[in-house]
Amino acid sequence: MAKLVKQRVTSVKHWNDTLFSFTTTRNGSFRFENGHFVMVGLEVDNKPLMRAYSIVSSNYEDHLEFFSIKVANGPLTSRLAKISVDDEIMLSEKPTGTLIQEHLSAGRNLYLISTGTGLAPFLSIIKNPQLYDRFDKIILTHGTRLVSELAYRDVITNELPNNEFFGEQVQKQLLYYPTVTREDFRNQGRVTDLLASGKLADDLGLAPIDPVYDRFMVCGSPAMLSDVCDILKAKGFSESRNGYLGEYVIERAFVTQ
Ligand code: A2P
Repeated sequence: MAKLVKQRVTSVKHWNDTLFSFTTTRNGSFRFENGHFVMVGLEVDNKPLMRAYSIVSSNYEDHLEFFSIKVANGPLTSRLAKISVDDEIMLSEKPTGTLIQEHLSAGRNLYLISTGTGLAPFLSIIKNPQLYDRFDKIILTHGTRLVSELAYRDVITNELPNNEFFGEQVQKQLLYYPTVTREDFRNQGRVTDLLASGKLADDLGLAPIDPVYDRFMVCGSPAMLSDVCDILKAKGFSESRNGYLGEYVIERAFVTQ
């Protein structure tokens, strides 16, 4: 296992009964690419209990941020959900992952498709100013069961568009499409159904998705990944892997307990 270091918790935010986020200190030597994940955990019974977490913060920020579910009896998340400012967490020193812009062939629009905590890596990615130079439009979807699970709405719709350095690009280029499946909301339905039917592109005033122009990053549960991949493959998209640059990349939203 990669070497583990301790970091101090600097803030904790509980979104609702099932989701929370926290920030920690960051060592200057800890380098990552936006979209990467890293092992995060706690010492339990004198042993590290670690799980993979996507990094929410961007690589130019001086802190680290993570977004987690809380599972009542989950070995790690039930403990992590109780952390408070000045507590210590453990972090591995080897971030990695596939949700990297350079893993995709050149394209016009970038779709970031997420459900649940699968949103996390895309928050890091949409804070990267270079993204807005590479793609015309960035479409961020977030599918959840409940409206209260649509975390980070204020960051996406308010903070980023007002960013002093690249806020104008965000305003022109970032399209946010939250959708809810088990409550009333302005957008409803699974991201997979919205993608397959063409409603997603249609609602946003975009042309139907096309492997010539559109690129995808996907992060969610294994079932969601498999369903999105089936839809993309049926529409002629191919996955980037082993150095081959295709039209989409996928990553699991890892923590389930
Ligand atoms: P649904 O309410 O229809 O199950 P979860 O909390 O289970 O991870 O779900 C988060 C969101 O992802 C929910 O809106 C859920 O819809 C949706 N979802 C679950 N499974 C899939 C799937 N295979 N494809 C697309 N969306 C999914």
